Amino acid sequence: MEEVAAQRGTATGGASRRGRAATATATAATPRRLGEVRATAVDRLATGIGELDRVLGGGVVPGSLVLLGGSPGIGKSTLTTMALANLAGAGRRVLYVSAEESAEQIRLRAERLGPDALRIPVVAETDLETVLATLEREAPEVCVVDSIQTLHSPSLSGAPGTVGQVREAAGELMRVAKARGSAVLLVGHVTKDGALAGPRVLEHLVDCVLQFEGERERTYRTLRAIKNRFGSTNDAAVFEMRGSGLVEVADASSRFVAEATGAPGSVVLAAMEGSRPLLVEVQALVSPSELEQPRRVVSGIDRNRLALVLAVLARHGRIALGSADVFVNVVGGVRVDEPGADLAVALAVAGAARGVRSREEERASALAARAPIACFGEIGLTGELRSVAHADRRLAEARRFGLAHVVAPLGSGASGDAATVRQALRFAGGAAAAPPRAA
Ligand code: TYD
Ligand code: MG
Repeated sequence: MEEVAAQRGTATGGASRRGRAATATATAATPRRLGEVRATAVDRLATGIGELDRVLGGGVVPGSLVLLGGSPGIGKSTLTTMALANLAGAGRRVLYVSAEESAEQIRLRAERLGPDALRIPVVAETDLETVLATLEREAPEVCVVDSIQTLHSPSLSGAPGTVGQVREAAGELMRVAKARGSAVLLVGHVTKDGALAGPRVLEHLVDCVLQFEGERERTYRTLRAIKNRFGSTNDAAVFEMRGSGLVEVADASSRFVAEATGAPGSVVLAAMEGSRPLLVEVQALVSPSELEQPRRVVSGIDRNRLALVLAVLARHGRIALGSADVFVNVVGGVRVDEPGADLAVALAVAGAARGVRSREEERASALAARAPIACFGEIGLTGELRSVAHADRRLAEARRFGLAHVVAPLGSGASGDAATVRQALRFAGGAAAAPPRAA
């Protein structure tokens, strides 16, 4: 008996000793059935930016910690300033802490955003302790900290933005914010490949992670939730940067379709932005290369997906582009990082590789006044077309904008149901020459 206990003791090692010691001092907690736990409904704070509120799951939850990530110049400061302006206008206590810009710089931005923005109280401060003390005293209902990477805690070694600093700053901010019931929006920078710089660790800490994406030089930006304790992560919003701030784009599909050319090398992708379908134009250009290593230039899609699509086109579509430069662009600066984009890339590249239309094709298409081809679908390594989520909603969106000819994976109910990439190419090519079928 003695021996068995001793053996068990060795097997579990120190853990069992610590466990016994703990039982002696701590009082046990009484578990409750979830049905007996009272969940009080909280009143969310509406930022007045409908699309932001929707992505948050219905507004800001009091006392919550939200991380807003995005590359420099994308509009994080603009979005948060606009949100605080609306909240201040609605009589809420707000605070804007900037560790990046001076109060004068923030004012210059605010001037473009309307009179309410000028009511926002600001603090330009990089010292964490000072920020925490301010937060404790002011106890705002909503506070923006711009950015988490530029705050500095003197009690810790390391430059601002290092993992230790960022974790400490976010942890302390959370402690004070929860104690005071303040909701805090942390602005965070992301690296070029889209990851939150340094602090992946923050994603565990915060209640909600929002990602602001797009390209600085382009007009359109998308905002999506990649983590949300108080809502779904299926929602995304499209914004346009204008001279007077960010404007919500309620019907982005109609704009992108209206601009789509339908020329060879252009197709419309029926994409999903979260739970909403979005039609975007994907364009490709193929031209003989002068370089030993031909160029592969992408914008709005993943470079590696292009490599895969080119390999499949070469192997299964007899379209070899080994000595050609290939450019692929999602128009408007939208990013579509979803597998459903594969087919659009393939059809755009194949169309561009076929090049300029022959005179007969030109005549045929003029006769048919052809609408652009829409498509979606993931491409597998064996050249098969794989189904993607929400086929019905993608099709409905295409139909809504008069795109009758949709090439999509088998079983999705599209006019061009294709099992393989080769079939899809045939459907798309056929559509270029032949008039579209009656709907
Ligand atoms: P900003 O919000 O400062 O970006 P971030 O905080 O993410 O770095 O703004 C980005 C850009 O948007 C900036 O270059 C200027 C431009 N902008 C407008 O076009 N219109 C506007 O009303 C504002 C405020 C900014
Ligand atoms: Mg900024």
